[in-house]
Amino acid sequence: MHAIVIEDKQLRWTEAPDPQPGPGEVVIDVTAAAVNRADLLQRQGHYPPPPGAPAYPGLECSGVVSALGPGVDDHHVGERVCALLAGGGYAERVAVPAGQLLPVPVGLSLVEAAALPEVACTVWSTVVAHDRLRAGETFLVHGGGSGIGTFAVQLGRALGATVLVTARSAKHERLRALGADHTIDYREQDFVQVVHEVTDGRGADVVLDIIGAKYLARNVEALATGGRISVIGFQGGARAELDLGALMAKRGTIWSASLRARPVADKARIVAGVRDQVWPLVAAGLVKPIIHATFPLAEAAEAQRVMESSDHLGKLVLLR
Ligand SMILES: NC(=O)c1ccc[n+]([C@@H]2O[C@H](COP(=O)([O-])OP(=O)(O)OC[C@H]3O[C@@H](n4cnc5c(N)ncnc54)[C@H](OP(=O)(O)O)[C@@H]3O)[C@@H](O)[C@H]2O)c1
Repeated sequence: MHAIVIEDKQLRWTEAPDPQPGPGEVVIDVTAAAVNRADLLQRQGHYPPPPGAPAYPGLECSGVVSALGPGVDDHHVGERVCALLAGGGYAERVAVPAGQLLPVPVGLSLVEAAALPEVACTVWSTVVAHDRLRAGETFLVHGGGSGIGTFAVQLGRALGATVLVTARSAKHERLRALGADHTIDYREQDFVQVVHEVTDGRGADVVLDIIGAKYLARNVEALATGGRISVIGFQGGARAELDLGALMAKRGTIWSASLRARPVADKARIVAGVRDQVWPLVAAGLVKPIIHATFPLAEAAEAQRVMESSDHLGKLVLLR
């Protein structure tokens, strides 16, 4: 097969050995794979794959099952699937634990399905399974125009929350069309002030944060009493000082987690939750994959350049 390898912090399309399915794994013939910001970090040498994961980048894909490993009896060769990966999506074939397979949601093509597993599993496991976002609550999504953000906005709306997003203003109109109730240009406006204005001083019940250190103290300021902050990215740094008194006064919670590093059994539980709770929303058209552009898999480097520019809204998808 062919795969994208990382050499001297560059991506190169080259011949690679075919993966063999281990116990409990299947091999997928990849139709499409999506790009994630973590792939850029991996290329730069900052985010190595966890032990046992394929060396190639790529945290999600769609395609057709082409081989079953020992002990896999609930899938079949020829099945159309999408999958959450620990790596290896930027390749013509990838081996993945069977518990990380999802069916292609009703009404979606294989290409569209490739844009969902990583964002759906990350956002659902954070905002629903952990933060327990409820109807009527206020949900602040930082980086609303990201792959993660475009999914979170739609899920928040589908759950009945009031959704506030930070994003550069060029993305605001599309984010409102996706379900954002209020859009905040983080370059021009103080998001803490806007959150308090639109909630009559209550603050946000749940904050989904991808910025980290730079926003930590302000996220606490923006929080409602009993609010939950989940930090899933460190685009603004990983080290910050925090006034615990401010957090205590709000009886607030701060949580941080990475999906990729979790044990296979945890990922299988998350994937099952997404299949049961998110896929029906996708089938109903309440949550859609938002694809900014597609690129040939061999041109993954160009897709990563677009992601680095942040001019995209939603996902960038690689086609085999
Ligand atoms: N923990 C996990 O398991 C996990 C899983 C998946 C993703 N993530 C993290 O989630 C983040 C998004 O990933 P992605 O692949 O969806 O990335 P992406 O599509 O490349 O989006 C990055 C976004 O960051 C926004 N941004 C930059 N500076 C900002 C600021 N100061 N305030 C608000 N937004 C800002 C950009 O928005 P503008 O264009 O509006 O500036 C852009 O939309 C990354 O940090 C990634 O590492 C974590």
